[in-house]
This record gives sequence, structure tokens and C-alpha cells, in this order.
Amino acid sequence: MDEQTVKAYDARAADFATRHGAADASELQRILLKHLPAGARVLEIGCGCGRDARFLVERGFRVVATDASAGMLEAFRKSAGDQVRIVDYPATEFCYLPFVEILQATFPLPLASKPAILSDTFDAVLAVAVIMHLPDTDLFEFAYQLRQMLKPGGTAVLSVSEGRAVDAASRDHQGRLFRERPPAELTLLFERLGFTLVAREKNADAMGRGDVQWTTLILRLDTVSGARPVDQIETIINRDRTLRSAGRCWDGTHLTRSGSNRPLPRFWMRQRWWRSRVGYSAGKRT
Ligand SMILES: C[S@@+](CC[C@H](N)C(=O)[O-])C[C@H]1O[C@@H](n2cnc3c(N)ncnc32)[C@H](O)[C@@H]1O
Repeated sequence: MDEQTVKAYDARAADFATRHGAADASELQRILLKHLPAGARVLEIGCGCGRDARFLVERGFRVVATDASAGMLEAFRKSAGDQVRIVDYPATEFCYLPFVEILQATFPLPLASKPAILSDTFDAVLAVAVIMHLPDTDLFEFAYQLRQMLKPGGTAVLSVSEGRAVDAASRDHQGRLFRERPPAELTLLFERLGFTLVAREKNADAMGRGDVQWTTLILRLDTVSGARPVDQIETIINRDRTLRSAGRCWDGTHLTRSGSNRPLPRFWMRQRWWRSRVGYSAGKRT
């Protein structure tokens, strides 16, 4: 999670909620209706003021809407009145329409706290205008957890922007992180985790900003999926700071040797990981 981003949403939650709520999201919502199976149980990550969660619930979808910002969730609760219900995990009763179930959660979820929601599964996961707020170091774990919470055959809907004005540290004037990644890179990452790209839709900016373009990726989790060995190694490497500081880089799509775009040979990855964990050559630890 990028704390500065969440603080920025908390600090100006009412203002963000008003602007996002008033935005014309009809294009995005048309895409949602086209690709989500009727009545699906949906997890929304980064729901903000709840515009899309409410839209879906009003059309018979069952939605658990989450956000990292307590301020944004409070704005959602205030505007939706008795249409929302705050839930916590583990819970026995979920998604009784016409309520939107809301829950404060930051993705990727901190594994140390053993988040119970990670054991729940959904027909679809929705992340609209959220992935850009993730630092590079969180991206793989985010995608991995998203897959974990989807039923086989489930749908991921990821809407990402391009064209924001940011400073050298990828922050806007309010301090929010905007790491805009080409949609093709995100697609590749998800494909390597067992997803198939179903559709890639372009949609206009809901707030009418001409320089910001949106792409919505619809990805389906393959029914016969399961992590391939190389993915498991990548997870470990991605978490392993020792190895990363030894000169490897994670560019959001593939592991590469520094300065090169060639994928690392699998044997080399295994060997480096093994050496970093147990040492090698006559007991010398690396
Ligand atoms: C640009 S707003 C989008 C809100 C809503 N999806 C919409 O389209 O109107 C981004 C939202 O993502 C939330 N957010 C940012 N980083 C997050 C994270 N790591 N986990 C969960 N939510 C996050 C913010 O609090 C904010 O409400």
C-alpha cells in the first residue's frame, strides 16, 4: 500500500466522493453489465464513494465493497444511508440485497494479519482506478491475491488510466501515487497467473479530462489453472528483498536481468533463490 495516497484520500474524502459520485460512469457501467454474469457475487477493491457498487447492487449483483481509506468509506456510508451495511470477517451472512456490504481493507492484504477475506471467493473482482495507486513492489502480490479470491472461471475487471500529469516520483499535486502501467503489461502479468484476456475496452474519462484515457481489461481466470512452478518462484523472489537488492529488478511484467528485457532462465532463478536461502560452496552463506 502507498500510505501517502491513502492519507490523501482520507484528507479530502468528502471532496473526492462528491466528484467521483457525480462523474458520468455510464460507459464503464455498460462494460460492467456486458461482462459480469447476472447476479454475480462481486468483490470491489477501492470502491471509493461506492458509485459502481451501488449501481451493481441496484441491478441484482451481490457486492462486498472495500477501500483502504476510512474517509472514503465514511463518505460512501453517509451518501448511501441504509443501502450499506458494514461487515467484518469472518461473517456468516453476506450479500443480502439490497445492501452493499462494506469493509475497510487495503490491498495487497497484509499476510501477517491472516486476513480472513482472503479465504472468501467471488465470481468477479472489480478494481476501477486503483491499480495505478500501487507501488511496483505491491503489484505482483496484489494480482496473486486477486486470483486467490476468484472462483475458477471468475472475472477480473481492471480499469486503469494513462496520461496523468505527475512529478518525477509519479505523484500528482495532491501527493497521490500514479504508477500508470501500459495495459499490455498488466495483461501479461495476469496471463502469467492463469488468466485469459476476454476484452480490452477503451473508455472516455468520466470527469471529461481530455488528456486522461482509460482502458478496462476483462480477464477470466482459467478453470484449469493453478500456479505453474515459475510463478511460485516469482512470488518468493518478489518478496525476497535480499535477492532483489542483489541486482534483479521487477518491472511489473517479467523478471529481467538489469538493463535487459530478456526473461531470466528458470534454472538461474532457482539457483539464485536457493543460494540466497541456504548458502552454497562449502557452507559459505551468500
Ligand atoms: C481514484 S479512487 C477510485 C474510486 C472508485 N473505484 C471510482 O472509480 O470512483 C481510488 C480509490 O482507491 C483507494 N485505494 C488506494 N490504494 C488502495 C489500496 N492499496 N487498497 C485499497 N484501496 C485503495 C482509495 O482510497 C480510493 O478510494
